[in-house]
Amino acid sequence: MIISVIGTGHVGLVTGAGFSEMGHTVICIDQNQDKITSIIDGSIPIYEPSLDEIVSRNKSSGRLHFTTDLAEGICLSDVIFIAVDTPQLSHGQSDLSQLESVTHQVAKASNNKKTIVIKSTVPVSTCRRIDRILRKYGNGTVFNVVSNPEFLREGKAVYDFMNPDRIVLGTRSDDKDAKRTMMKIYEPFEKDHVEIIYTTLETSELIKYSANAFLATKVAFINEMANLCDAVGANITELARGIGLDNRIGSSFLKPGPGYGGSCFPKDTLSLTVQAQEANCPVRIIESVINSNSSHIRRLGRRVSDFCAECWNIDCKSSLLGKKIAVLGLSFKANTDDIRSAASTVIIPFLIKQGAKVMGFDPVLSATEKFTDQFQDTIPTFEAKTDLDTVLWGADVVLVLTEWEEIAKIDWLKKRSILNSPIVVDFRNLFNPDLMRKYGYHYASLGRP
Ligand code: UGA
Repeated sequence: MIISVIGTGHVGLVTGAGFSEMGHTVICIDQNQDKITSIIDGSIPIYEPSLDEIVSRNKSSGRLHFTTDLAEGICLSDVIFIAVDTPQLSHGQSDLSQLESVTHQVAKASNNKKTIVIKSTVPVSTCRRIDRILRKYGNGTVFNVVSNPEFLREGKAVYDFMNPDRIVLGTRSDDKDAKRTMMKIYEPFEKDHVEIIYTTLETSELIKYSANAFLATKVAFINEMANLCDAVGANITELARGIGLDNRIGSSFLKPGPGYGGSCFPKDTLSLTVQAQEANCPVRIIESVINSNSSHIRRLGRRVSDFCAECWNIDCKSSLLGKKIAVLGLSFKANTDDIRSAASTVIIPFLIKQGAKVMGFDPVLSATEKFTDQFQDTIPTFEAKTDLDTVLWGADVVLVLTEWEEIAKIDWLKKRSILNSPIVVDFRNLFNPDLMRKYGYHYASLGRP
């Protein structure tokens, strides 16, 4: 069986490489010639740990191919995964134009029976729509449409592909063929006792949104609890442990931080609320989660200025004026260069508006470049580096936003001498408050008064 994957973005490339690693023959298709050429030449266009190794290994073994020729790729394949972008439109709806355009091309190019698998995150009923387009424009070709959402985390996508918690497959209820084909593809996982959920197209589409919305709810919940801990003198670490050991709650996704970000949670939670409103069945909890997360992020900048004012015993309105702030971590979380909806994109402009001189650190060059490119017009004074000491040197305040290992392992005793003032505000709770105080720091974190 030959598989093709259309779209070599994060999901498409990891999926294609992952299937080839499982032993399938895979053709990855993308219309972007530069991207395909650079992947063939050995350069992976996204930052994703260990992806380069599996791409290179499977390219060499002849199982993984790359092309811009969609028609040829389609003709050679039995199963076609579509993993193109479905970006957010201004009111939260998904832009399905790329998906529809690819569907038309697939319909036109198909010469015999094909299984079309939708990997892109799509609103409920999209797969039915894709099915209708294929039937209408497919010149009599038989198509089996499958919804197979992805649950890959950026930065851990290869691991997640190889070690899924579950696989979700939505098909038309009368489509036994599609089920059989997908069983063959995922057989190695099934043998490994990974649970495979067979369901309808609509349920499968909604599982994806519900999973992300539920996880986003956990994050927003723990951040609100951390703020409450600060207000009443309780401890969020102990609280999270105290509730997480209850099996019904579970201990993962209970780390307080500077709000959830990235390309998925913000987009998918908003899309879910729009879909629910359109269905005349509003999801009030998710609407509140979105509000809670954005107000949490917006308040963080003010917390930095208030804490500094307290440390220096000055007015909080001007506490950051002329001060150098070293911001550690620009990406929305560790192990990715993605800065979409990252806390840094909200907090840094705020700090600069307060008169601070801000320098950012991120261990990955592409994250620093993306940030400076995005903000070159609005905050031209901002500088970002991949060298930690250059950023820390002479800093009046250090602000931690991302849990990169390079940041988590900082030896603060050693760094004390290069800082102008010993103030660390840590919105990832990476360091031990007692130790920081012992080292002579004014240290603030979330929910650990
Ligand atoms: C998320 C989901 O976890 C994946 O399962 C899904 O496939 C993906 O979206 C997607 O839809 O494509 P991702 O956006 O890469 O993956 O990031 P996560 O690791 O889930 O983190 C999301 C946000 O929550 C980050 O800003 C992270 O810092 C924050 N977070 C997470 C916390 O603040 N605390 C936690 O305990 C966990």
